[in-house]
Amino acid sequence: MSLPINLFEYESLAKKHLSQMALDYYNSGAGDELTLQDNRAAFDRYRLRPRMLIDVSQRDLTTTILGQSLSMPILIAPMAFQCLAHREGEVATAKAAQEIGAAMVLSTLSTKSIEEVANERKNIPQWFQLYIHKDRSLTRNLVERAEKSGFSALCLTVDAPLLGRRERDRHNQFTLPSGMELANLTAIKDLAIPETVGESGLFTYFAQQIDPSITWGDLEWLRSQTQLPILLKGILRGDNAKKAVEYGVQGIIVSNHGGRQLDGAIASLDALPEIVKTVGDRIEILIDGGIRRGTDVLKALALGAKAVLVGRPILWGLAVSGEAGVRHVLELLRDELDLAMALSGCPSLRDIDARLIT
Ligand code: GLV
Repeated sequence: MSLPINLFEYESLAKKHLSQMALDYYNSGAGDELTLQDNRAAFDRYRLRPRMLIDVSQRDLTTTILGQSLSMPILIAPMAFQCLAHREGEVATAKAAQEIGAAMVLSTLSTKSIEEVANERKNIPQWFQLYIHKDRSLTRNLVERAEKSGFSALCLTVDAPLLGRRERDRHNQFTLPSGMELANLTAIKDLAIPETVGESGLFTYFAQQIDPSITWGDLEWLRSQTQLPILLKGILRGDNAKKAVEYGVQGIIVSNHGGRQLDGAIASLDALPEIVKTVGDRIEILIDGGIRRGTDVLKALALGAKAVLVGRPILWGLAVSGEAGVRHVLELLRDELDLAMALSGCPSLRDIDARLIT
């Protein structure tokens, strides 16, 4: 069979490669999945206003975020349990990321360890996503390991004091198959995704382990633990973005956790303009949620994001053909962005501005 030619085709194909439990876990959103759908629909509500007669014979997709050079404004979002998609899991994703030149954000809840993923790094940055557990020494240990292993930023997820209500996972009583574990937390006895009757094991894990009392003040604690730049992942309001600046974090990721937390929350793309208007370039602004096309990346950048993170399509590529699948998904998205830039008269990312969009 010929290779998929876009990310949607990867989605269809991935369905044949995943167990029902894994597919539901990856693809589901919270509640009625309104936010999940709206993340995509938001991109379709915008139209582009291309500029003509501009020399686009050379295109430059490079950018710098937090002082780190990236070959394109597309990063891999943090996603848990990648071994559910492919036996090499996060290691395959990391290899593909290095080859194509995409920064990857590793999840706390990965099925390959911080050190195994770091081992694949050549010269493309890797960042670490952090959940603050109730056990602060465990959390500190994760931060130390990430720092020691050369991860160059921390993304603190702030939209998940408890896990969202994902009903497909609840029906499936989601848990990890035997032999698969939380690779960063194996040293801790009894720390596993439980098998919970009538509930998602991940929901139970969050309720038991993740600290729901975290406030802005705790950022100072985190700051005191690390030299790494900190980004807050899950910001949807201008006033929260302003607070992020006041608390001295270096970046925010405009995100509703792929529609998996508060159902009915605003689409990430719809949240972006107010945030950009409020904090401008005082902080790095990235976005995730619903990006499936190069033109989606173009729209997000036109509305003021510095870069985007892509999530589920990476898992689809991973499920279809491991490292090669992830690489191909990233190539497709990069090439679509490159073409969209050419057709809209933007030879470089600096040329993409708000006037490109209605
Ligand atoms: C974990 O962070 C999830 O969204 O499932």
